[in-house]
Order: sequence, then C-alpha cells, then structure tokens
Amino acid sequence: MRFGRPSLTVQLGALFAVVAAIVFSAVATYLCHALAAQLQARDDADLVEHALRIRHLLTETRDAAAVRADPHRFLDAVDRGRGLLMVIQAEDGEPLTQNTGDRAFVGIARPVAAGREPSTADAVDATSGRGARMRALTAMGAVGAGGTLVRIALAHTADDRAAVMQGHRRKVLAAAFAGAVLTALLGFLLVRRGFDRVKSLARQAHEVSAHNLAKRLDAEAAPEELRELARAFNAVLDRLQGSFVNLSQFADDLAHDLRTPLNNLMVQTEVVFSQPRSPEEYQDLLSSNYEEFGRLARMVESMLFLARADHDQIALATEPLDVGAELARIADYFEGPALDAGVSFAISAGGAVRADALLFRRAVSNLVANAIRYTPRGGAVRLSALAAPGGVAVSVSNPGAGIAPEHLSRLFDRFYRSDPSRSSGSVSAGLGLAIVKSIMALHGGGATVTSEIGGHTCFSLFFPDAPPAAVI
Ligand SMILES: Nc1ncnc2c1ncn2[C@@H]1O[C@H](COP(=O)(O)OP(=O)(O)OP(=O)(O)O)[C@@H](O)[C@H]1O
Ligand SMILES: [Mg+2]
Repeated sequence: MRFGRPSLTVQLGALFAVVAAIVFSAVATYLCHALAAQLQARDDADLVEHALRIRHLLTETRDAAAVRADPHRFLDAVDRGRGLLMVIQAEDGEPLTQNTGDRAFVGIARPVAAGREPSTADAVDATSGRGARMRALTAMGAVGAGGTLVRIALAHTADDRAAVMQGHRRKVLAAAFAGAVLTALLGFLLVRRGFDRVKSLARQAHEVSAHNLAKRLDAEAAPEELRELARAFNAVLDRLQGSFVNLSQFADDLAHDLRTPLNNLMVQTEVVFSQPRSPEEYQDLLSSNYEEFGRLARMVESMLFLARADHDQIALATEPLDVGAELARIADYFEGPALDAGVSFAISAGGAVRADALLFRRAVSNLVANAIRYTPRGGAVRLSALAAPGGVAVSVSNPGAGIAPEHLSRLFDRFYRSDPSRSSGSVSAGLGLAIVKSIMALHGGGATVTSEIGGHTCFSLFFPDAPPAAVI
C-alpha cells in the first residue's frame, strides 16, 4: 500500500481539529480562571461577613474574660465545616477562643482598625501550618462597653474551593475535548461536502471528449472560488473546439481537393489506355498529367508552408526592402500572364518596408495572381504602398465583378473560394489568401480586403515598422 500526500480534505480536517483544540483549550482555561477568581471572591466576602458578625458579638460581650468563659457563642457563629478558621486573641496575644490549633495565618494580614469596616480588599493569601493555601483576614474588635480591643483572625481554607475547582476543571476539560473532537468531525464532513462541488466539476470535465466538445462546465452553479477556474476551463474548451472544427474542416477540404485532380488523372489515363493511341496522343496525355501533377505539387507545398507557419517553424529574415523596386519586380514577373489576360499594371510606391524578402514576394504575388485572374480585359491592376501609422500598407487593387460582402470575412480561410464556377477548375486551390494571412501573421501585421460589387476589389497588407521581437 502506498501512502502519498494526504488529500486536501484530510489536511483541512486535521487543521480544523488543531484549531478547534486550541480554541477550546483557551476557552476552558479562561473558564477555570474565571471560576477560581469567583470562588476566591466568594471566600473573601465570607471572611468579611464573619469578621462583622464577630465584631457585633464582641460588642454584646461584657469583657474579654467573658469571651473566654463562653466560647460557643463565637464558635457557633463560625462554620468550621465550610473551612472557616478563627482565632480571637487579646491584644497581648493571649488566645481567648479559637476553633483551630493552627496559628500560621494569625499574624499575616495587617489588622483592620476597629473603627473601620473590613472589606474584601483586606483579605490576603496565607498558608496553613500544613502548607495548604488559604485566604486570611484580621480585624480589631472592641469588647463590650469598656471597648477593650481584641484581634479577630479569620481564614478560609482553599480545600473547599480546590474540590469545586477540580470537579469543574475535569468537566470543562472533558467538554472541551468533546467539543474539539466534534468540531473536527463536523469540519471534516463540511470540507468533504465542499469538495463534492469540485468532484462534480471534475465529473463534468470527464464528460468532455472529442465527440462531445460542445459540453461545458456549469460555471454559474460552481462555488465562487471555483467559478473563475470553470470559466477559464470553458474558455480553453472554446478555443480547442474552434481549432478542432477548423482542423476537421481542413482535413475534409484537403481530401476533397486532392480527390478531384487525382480522379482527373485516373480518368484521363484510363481513357487513353482503353485503346491503342498515336505517340502524339500519349504525349498530350503526359503533358496534361504533368500539369495536374504540378498543381498537386503546388497544393502540397502550400499545405506544408501553412503547417510550418502554424507551428512557428518559419524563421523570418526581415530587412528593409525598397517597396517600389519590389512591386516593379513582381509586375515584371507577371508580365506574361498579364499580357495573356489583357491586363496592365499601375505602380505607385516609394519608401521602405521591413519584411522577409521571399515571403513579401510570395504574399504580393498571390494577390497579383488573383487580381490578374479577376480583372476584365483592358483593366489595370494597381500596386501601391502607403505609409500607415506604425508601418506600411501595401495594396493590390483591381476592377472586376467584385466579391459579395458575405464572402469577405471567410476569404482568407483555407480552401475558401467565393467563386463556385472556378472551384472545381484546375487553376485554383483556395490556399493563396490563407498563405497571405499566415505570412502577415508571421510579420506581426495583417491582411484586409474591401470590395464593391461591380467596382474595385482591394487587398491591403499591413507591415509594421517593428516586426515581432521573437522572429529573427
Ligand atoms: N481580386 C479578386 N477579385 C475577386 N475575387 C477574388 C480576388 N482575389 C481572391 N478572390 C476570391 O477569393 C478566393 C480565394 O482566393 P485564394 O487566392 O485564396 O484562392 P484561389 O486563388 O482560388 O486558389 P490559389 O490561390 O490557391 O491557387 C478566390 O477563389 C476568389 O473567389
Ligand atoms: Mg489565389
């Protein structure tokens, strides 16, 4: 059996027990002290009351000799059974009457003068001959009409108090112990109950799977302390679900887009093989296949580029580029296709842009290729670069049919084509703009599009002056 770290429930339960034990011990100690003080106060009041009573009896006694002659009047006034000790002495120290042989307490307290009423403040601590603790009070009393002074020494043994205290202490300690155990037990149960909510969240989290990605934790029902965690978990699930849906969509599109050219290749080849053909016909087949293979290769290369960009595996080598020269160079490169399409270029650019030269060319070329394709004969593709706050905006704009607004937001998605008539054609894969978007993200910039139906379509690339620090 392995003993790991104790669970949080056990730890909190133990902490609860310790705290409860400390609190109950403190309360028990306080209660014992309070009771001890109260009992002592009661004993002191008892001493004062007896001193007054004896003083009164003395006034009713003829003289000191009468005190000695009739000791019972005084002895009866003092209840020995309650632990009260009394010694009455003449002023010269000669004992007149007493209910104890113990004299240890007699000289301890300063006697209260006959003219003053004793109070509890006059009581002092004393020790009996046997070493037991007691409270003592001494007062002077006047005997009869003559007013002879005698000393009344009284003491209260603590036995009575000690017995009460002992019983009380035992009960309080037992109650404190029981209270601590009970509190610890209740604390443990409460903590466990509290953690049931955590377990319920964990159960909900277990229900989330690839087939059930829409499932979310019930954050609002969670206790406040866990609500933020549940919300954060839900936000992670939102992001994961988004990526997951994109990924499945991507896989679907990929399969679909590879199937079409592969089918074309197979059908064409089968048709040619179905009967003997002339060398020219075989040559035609091979060149057609070659084109199709080229398209497939470009598509796979584009996919690889996007995958590498997704995983940050493309290192940028940014440098200041002369935008005018770069745009002119791209226009030159597209001279042939532009001539075929009857499209011309208009370039208005100057200044520099900070970008990776190869990726800059690739992004702009993708836009130019699209623009040539969608510009009607005789139209002009405009390439321009304008300083924008914090960077440079490079735009490729062309006249044409334009793109309907509902397509604009998805145009940069992989495999998205707004023009269904061309979707199945062999020219377009629907990856060009996705690559543009990735390249711009790598540069810490962005790509936007605006289009008017029947007017101009303008793609704009924003290159920031300071590309992200992480890229080299
Ligand atoms: N200048 C434009 N005018 C009108 N529509 C455009 C323009 N540029 C892009 N589009 C639309 O956006 C879609 C996506 O373009 P994207 O460049 O991503 O793919 P593609 O050109 O179809 O294929 P690929 O570039 O991979 O060969 C195009 O299919 C087209 O419908
Ligand atoms: Mg394209």
